[in-house]
Amino acid sequence: MLLEKKNVVLAVSGGIAAFKAASVASMLRKRGASVKCIMTEHATQFITPLTLREISGNPVAVSMFGDIPEFQVEHIALANWADVFVIAPATANVLGKIAGGIADDMLTTAVMATKAPVLLAPAMNSNMYLNPIVQDNMKKLTAYGYELIEPDKGHLACGINGIGRLPEPEDIVDYIELAACRSDVLKGKRVIVTAGGTREPLDPVRFIGNRSSGRMGFAVAKAAAMAGAEVILVAGTTDHLKTPKGDVHRIDVESTKNMKEAVDSYYDSCDLVIKAAAVADYRAVHPAENKIKKSDETLAIDMTKNPDILYGLGQRKKHQILIGFAAETTHVLEYGAAKLKKKNLDMLVANDVSAEGAGFQGSTNIATFLYPDGSMEKLEKMGKDELAGLIIERAAGLLARRK
Ligand code: PMT
Repeated sequence: MLLEKKNVVLAVSGGIAAFKAASVASMLRKRGASVKCIMTEHATQFITPLTLREISGNPVAVSMFGDIPEFQVEHIALANWADVFVIAPATANVLGKIAGGIADDMLTTAVMATKAPVLLAPAMNSNMYLNPIVQDNMKKLTAYGYELIEPDKGHLACGINGIGRLPEPEDIVDYIELAACRSDVLKGKRVIVTAGGTREPLDPVRFIGNRSSGRMGFAVAKAAAMAGAEVILVAGTTDHLKTPKGDVHRIDVESTKNMKEAVDSYYDSCDLVIKAAAVADYRAVHPAENKIKKSDETLAIDMTKNPDILYGLGQRKKHQILIGFAAETTHVLEYGAAKLKKKNLDMLVANDVSAEGAGFQGSTNIATFLYPDGSMEKLEKMGKDELAGLIIERAAGLLARRK
């Protein structure tokens, strides 16, 4: 879990969206983070400190001068403890106070004292949000290095539809994960990641596809974004996965031909390609224009070979680092090594998709990294996020050596 051993201060100010802080705290803990909450006095009108104490598993700081069991100078202790400091929701009042240098309660003094990345998630009525004073305050705060999580558009508690909704807790936690795990090992690099499966139509209703959920590829795209890269995520069919946060440009494709066009159009300008997608090797020669009707006992469809996208990239390789995957069910290392060589790759991630806890759909994988000099790294079963982090680490090493 990426947030394991990470300390998150979740600060809550007084708006109706304060109730969502409970879900944010809960999700943070499920993803492995330690969470300590700060609330403004106004926030305690919307959600009780007891709720956040029970969910976070830690005392909640509200008052500057109350009985404090754990800390000497509590706002400083919290400020130092944080790996990430997030204010969700951040009201117009709190944004204004921070922008104006006012530190008159636990939240504003702690945020003033922290050296951790600070994420601000504004949530308020649309007119308040669009008010030039609030907009100026946000500009000022981003210029100082505070990071804004843009509010969503939608139905607001005041009864109108507009901008100002606190994003869903999962999105807020994704932003926190990005801030907590960020590095710059791929800063300035453009990375193409392919993910998911391709679909080849048989008629307007049916297609040939595969079991890829996109999880492995999306984890790689997330890890690359966390490493500071500009990511071109070419996504085939997935289990409705959300685009990872960060500098990620997503291109949705369906067939192998569409995927090839998207990858080829960015190839010359990229530094690294990681092809985690499960690509259909064959397509129907003549997909039917209308739905194929049930008639005979058997049905034969002529299939023709699809272009091998990765092979093509290997042929045209100049400065790029190419990393492929191999999904095998037998002779995993032998077939993987053959693909590494044939496709002119710098590294190959071989996975036995028939093994328990590996391959398609689940949240874990078991992989072996293969290299052109015949060396290999056999890895234990691990989360796809963790494996993606290792792939990006190795990719950064390969890029550094290529210079
Ligand atoms: O998405 P998940 O549910 O998380 O599952 C992850 C995964 C099992 C799909 C992933 O870990 C994986 O193994 N991806 C590669 C699947 C695959 O197509 O393997 P392959 O051995 O058939 O192809 C070898 C490589 O060539 C792959 O990098 C593939 O993207 C590429 N290829 C294959 C065929 C083709 N026509 N063009 C290609 O570029």
